[in-house]
Amino acid sequence: MPTNRPIILGICGSERAGGNTDLALEYTRTLVEQRGAEFRVIHLREHRISPCSPCGDCNYRTEPCGLRDDMPAVVEQMRQADGIIYAVPVHGFGPAHLMQVFIERAGVGYLRFQRPLANKVGGIVITSRRYSDSAVHSQLVDNLLLNRMILVGSGFPALLRNTAPQPALTDREGLDALDRMVHRMVDMVGLLRHHAQETGLPPLPVDDRNERTSRPARNSVPATEDEGAVAQSLA
Ligand SMILES: Cc1cc2nc3c(=O)[nH]c(=O)nc-3n(C[C@H](O)[C@H](O)[C@H](O)COP(=O)(O)O)c2cc1C
Repeated sequence: MPTNRPIILGICGSERAGGNTDLALEYTRTLVEQRGAEFRVIHLREHRISPCSPCGDCNYRTEPCGLRDDMPAVVEQMRQADGIIYAVPVHGFGPAHLMQVFIERAGVGYLRFQRPLANKVGGIVITSRRYSDSAVHSQLVDNLLLNRMILVGSGFPALLRNTAPQPALTDREGLDALDRMVHRMVDMVGLLRHHAQETGLPPLPVDDRNERTSRPARNSVPATEDEGAVAQSLA
C-alpha cells in the first residue's frame, strides 16, 4: 500500500535468522516506528542474488547487468526508500559474503549508471565479536559516499559486539550509537522532505554522470536541469 510516511530500509547481510544482525534491525524498527516512519527490511539471504559472473564487462556495459536474479527488485526497493541502513556481520575480517556479493552486483551492475541513491540518507550497523568491525564500517562508508548518499554525523559508529554464542543485544555503548544514528537519520530525512516540499527541488544537485566520465568545471554549464535550478536558487 502506498505510504506518505518516510521509509527507512534496512538491508541485512546476515545468513543467520534471529542472529545479532536481525536483532539489531528489530531494535532499529522500534526506534524508526516510534518516530512515525515506516521501516522495511530486506534479508539478502531470502533473495536470489548471484555472485558476479566471469563476463568481466561490467565496467564497459552501457546497460544494467545481464544476470537474471532478484537484484532489480532489491534496487527498486532502495529507490523507494528515503533512508537506507546497511546491516552486516563481520566474517573473516570483511563483510559477510551476502553483503559483499550484493555490493558488487548492485554497485557495478545497476547503481553506477544514474546513481539513484543520491541524496538518500545512509546508515551502517556492523555486528561482530570485535575484529575488523571498523574496517568493514569504513568499506560501507566508502560505498554510501560513492552513491552520493548523505551520511549524518551522529557520534560513534554503530558497532555492536557480542562474544557470546547466543545472539543478544548486550553492547550498551554500541546500542547507544545505533540509537543516535537512527534518530539523526530520521531527522535528516524530515529536513530533506521539508526542503523538497517547500522548494520542489532536490536538496543537492543530482549529477547523473558516472565518475569515469569527465566533468565540466563547476562554474560552467549546469550538468542537469536540477543542477541549474539549484544554482539559481542559491544565486
Ligand atoms: C564465518 C564467521 C566468521 C567470522 N569472522 C569474524 C571476524 O573476522 N571478526 C569478528 O569480530 N567476528 C567474526 N565473526 C563473528 C560474527 O561477526 C558475529 O558473531 C556476528 O554478530 C554474527 O552476526 P549474526 O548473528 O547476524 O550472524 C565471524 C562469524 C562467523 C560465523
